[in-house]
Amino acid sequence: MKDELRMHAFVCVNERDTNNQRGCCSSKNSLEVMTKLKRRVREMGIDDVRINKSGCLNRCEEGIACVIYPQGIWYKISDNDEIIDKIILNLEKGIIADEHLMDTKSSD
Ligand code: FES
Repeated sequence: MKDELRMHAFVCVNERDTNNQRGCCSSKNSLEVMTKLKRRVREMGIDDVRINKSGCLNRCEEGIACVIYPQGIWYKISDNDEIIDKIILNLEKGIIADEHLMDTKSSD
C-alpha cells in the first residue's frame, strides 16, 4: 500500500433492526461485497487505492451505498461480480459506471 492514496472507497456496512423501514446495507450483504472488493483490488496489485467499511451513508433505501473519493462518486452496488468489476474499473482507470450511479441529491 502506497502512502499516497489516489482513491478511497467507502462501503456502508451499517446494520439496522429488520423492522426498520429504511432497511440497511448490511441486510444486502454489504460486508461480503466490501470484502470482495478489497480482495480483488489487492489481487490486482492496485496499491494506491483503499477500500474501507463505513457507517450509514444516509442512502439506505438505495444501498448498498458506496462512495469513491476524491471525486465523490456515489454508487449503488450489490453482491454481483459484474458490478464489482465495474467499481474496480473505476478505481483502476477512472472509468465511471454510469448505470450504477446513485442520484446526486445531497445527503441530509
Ligand atoms: S444503511 Fe447503508 S446507507 Fe444507510
